[in-house]
Amino acid sequence: MTFVKRDLTPRIGTGIRTDLETLLGGRHAAEIRELLELRGVLVFPQIGLTDEQQVVFAGTIGDVIEQGEKGIYKVSLDPRESPTAGYLRGTILWHFDGFSDDVPTRASVLSARRLSGVGGQTEFANTYAAYEDLSAQRKQELEKLEVAHTLEATQRDVFPDPSPEMRAAWAGHPEKAHPLVWTHRSGRKSLLLGSSASRVVGMDLESGRALIEELLAWATRPEFVYRHEWAVGDLVIWDNTGVMHRVDPYPADSGRMMHRTTLVGEEAVA
Ligand code: OGA
Ligand code: MN
Repeated sequence: MTFVKRDLTPRIGTGIRTDLETLLGGRHAAEIRELLELRGVLVFPQIGLTDEQQVVFAGTIGDVIEQGEKGIYKVSLDPRESPTAGYLRGTILWHFDGFSDDVPTRASVLSARRLSGVGGQTEFANTYAAYEDLSAQRKQELEKLEVAHTLEATQRDVFPDPSPEMRAAWAGHPEKAHPLVWTHRSGRKSLLLGSSASRVVGMDLESGRALIEELLAWATRPEFVYRHEWAVGDLVIWDNTGVMHRVDPYPADSGRMMHRTTLVGEEAVA
């Protein structure tokens, strides 16, 4: 019956101590949804859910995407564990999930099953807060800009020497344009950036990339970031519509294994 909240940093992240029964019963689901939007990341330390419980819990917050095995998608860089291990190498760069979707996923629930001896901590950056702290003039300048997102942009820095097959696979993935500033239904605004951001539409390549880099550096300043140092059994949810995330590099054969459950998007980028 406990449900105790604690801010982890002033601008992003809330830790919640509660018990299994409270979590799975969905009694705090409305409050969790609200907190998720306001705080970006919620941490349930060492709650130790089974796969089934994780999917049940996620289902109290939103609609679970049919992905992986019964709603559990294995996040591992080891090709023996995950068919998408290659693409997941891109998780070391700041990103949001599903850049090619009109309606990006609402949130992801990630739990730690096995840790890496080195690296493997995950950072989250609040892009609502980053937008809020821009000057009025900067906000106005950015308001009308659109950014083209590509798979290639997410991969080229982690595979600096791609094979022709990889290049072809990247190039076969269509570019997706999104507004740089996402005006949510709530009226709140967030920056939509990340490793997928390839160019600014209508701007020359070099100036566009410089702007993207400048804003990425801004949005990931320490005051907007929460860094999660994992313990086995930790459960973390992030709002994929208002935070970026990245993981510290870790060896593909480290054994690190995270189980992810993803919630269906509820709002088109606008
Ligand atoms: C993801 C992701 C980061 C991590 O699952 O979308 O980026 O810490 N994971 O494994
Ligand atoms: Mn991700």
